[in-house]
Amino acid sequence: MDELVIRQPDDFHIHLRDDDMLPMSVGHVSAQFRRAIVMPNLRPPVVSTLIATEYRKRILAAIPSGRMFTPLMTLYLTDRTTPADILLAKESGIIHGVKYYPAGATTNSDSGVTDLEGRFKVLEAMMKHGVPLLLHGEVTNKEVDIFDREKVFLELVLSGVVKEFPDLKIVLEHITTSDSVDFVDSCSDKVAATITAHHLLLNRGDLFDGGVRPHHYCLPILKRERHRLALIRAAVSGSPKYFLGTDSAPHERHTKEASCGCAGVYTAHAALECYAAAFDSVGAMNKLEDFASTFGARFYELPLNTGQIKLVRKEQKIPPEYGYSGGAIVPFRAGQNLDWSVEA
Ligand code: NCD
Ligand code: ZN
Ligand code: ZN
Repeated sequence: MDELVIRQPDDFHIHLRDDDMLPMSVGHVSAQFRRAIVMPNLRPPVVSTLIATEYRKRILAAIPSGRMFTPLMTLYLTDRTTPADILLAKESGIIHGVKYYPAGATTNSDSGVTDLEGRFKVLEAMMKHGVPLLLHGEVTNKEVDIFDREKVFLELVLSGVVKEFPDLKIVLEHITTSDSVDFVDSCSDKVAATITAHHLLLNRGDLFDGGVRPHHYCLPILKRERHRLALIRAAVSGSPKYFLGTDSAPHERHTKEASCGCAGVYTAHAALECYAAAFDSVGAMNKLEDFASTFGARFYELPLNTGQIKLVRKEQKIPPEYGYSGGAIVPFRAGQNLDWSVEA
């Protein structure tokens, strides 16, 4: 297959950041995706509907003219979030999920939840009002090996939440292990997962390919090849539980190429082409449309997009960096060729 026309896709997990990064991040995402679930881990975090409303306006103002793009906002769950915040969020019509970061788990997560059981009233309100819970699914306990933090999260946290709140919609974000696939498969249709392009294309060897590769460092960290293969199988399985969420996460070059570099991979510049490479690698291009354009929308109870987008097997060269007013971003596959291109 050398050409594929699919319904316009949505990205169900992206970091757009704010201020001087917005023109670039919004420019890239809106070139391919009709909508995106926008992560709330700004500094300070998006903890209220009011803050989300203001942030949404800044995103809308950054959309290049002539493009159709709808940011789907989220709230950042903290130890101080209340059931009243959830009601307000639901009534706003612009908030589509509440994001749980275990405190300290990842980039800008220091305001995250320290005691999830203390937030059970909030989860109850989310279940009642049909607001999905979006999870960064890793424990933060330093005694747990970094490669096991997702698996241990399933055992210590998520299995309990699923039992306690059987009707709560849950998205386990950016899954990286066969354990998560098994877990999500074993749950009801209320539990789904997003999968990133970079976790479909890389394994943990790519962190140390000829030297330390800071631009492959993300959280959850890349895993063994057998886990990557399990993610590929899930993505192409045709199960509506798995859908596209890039977790594209821009960090200024010098904050990644540093003695203590930030976690995050930037894929928004060529997200769909990277997913195409992964699906094509197992001869499953015919499964891409459901994964990218159908299953996520259904889970979030959104209408399917009406536009289309065309992928062609045509080489494109990724630039070494994207400059913006605050510096530069090194994109995924910087300086390399991709086999697929999106055609206007
Ligand atoms: C994300 C970021 O940079 O905001 N980083 C990452 O490594 N994935 C945060 C996140 O999604 O965990
Ligand atoms: Zn995360
Ligand atoms: Zn993320």
